[in-house]
Amino acid sequence: MTQDELKQAVAEAALAHVVEGRLVGVGTGSTARLFIEALAGIKDRITGAVASSEDTRRRLEGHGIRVYDLNDVTDLPVYIDGADEITAEMHMIKGGGGALTREKIVSAVAQKFVCIVDASKYVDVLGRFPLPVEVIPMARAQVARELTRLGGRPVLREGFVTDNGNIILDVHGLQIVDPVALESEIDHLAGVVTNGLFARRAANVCLMGTDKGVITLS
Ligand code: 5RP
Repeated sequence: MTQDELKQAVAEAALAHVVEGRLVGVGTGSTARLFIEALAGIKDRITGAVASSEDTRRRLEGHGIRVYDLNDVTDLPVYIDGADEITAEMHMIKGGGGALTREKIVSAVAQKFVCIVDASKYVDVLGRFPLPVEVIPMARAQVARELTRLGGRPVLREGFVTDNGNIILDVHGLQIVDPVALESEIDHLAGVVTNGLFARRAANVCLMGTDKGVITLS
């Protein structure tokens, strides 16, 4: 199977985690886009959705799915999103699409995080994929120095501005053996909005597309 076929399979499998008559949190990226297409087929069975990016909001609304402001939501049973890397502990790197901050906010509200990936995203140690860090523009140079001090090689994502008006530094060369500690350490640097480690808010379930079918890790 191709990577796109594996993504399609997990996007469809994720529908089983959507709760009838309730809201669903929706992630960003190519796998999340396939999930939105699948969700459109059952839109009459949900109240609506909460979007993790402007791109996702536009796509959901394009399918006639009502998108709620997170501030009006107190109960979100499930958040469904892809990842750039995931481990057996359900720790993830996210933010390849640059939506990491809103993804982290929406997933923090959700009771359950269902991660949908093809098998290429599964790793023993996080860090082969460059870690995205969203930064307030005036702090770019200072945060880059601090990330270098932590052993990484930060590279500005050229020509990219997040939905929140900030920049992304993609940090190469990290071997992330303690993702919970590193997530906190980077988040505490002055000028950092969010980093793409999802370790404190790990996934609860991972649907992984493999050549043998979709397997569930939890
Ligand atoms: C976007 C993300 C995506 O979930 C991540 O980049 C995976 O994307 P894809 O499904 O296209 O492989 O975190 O900010």
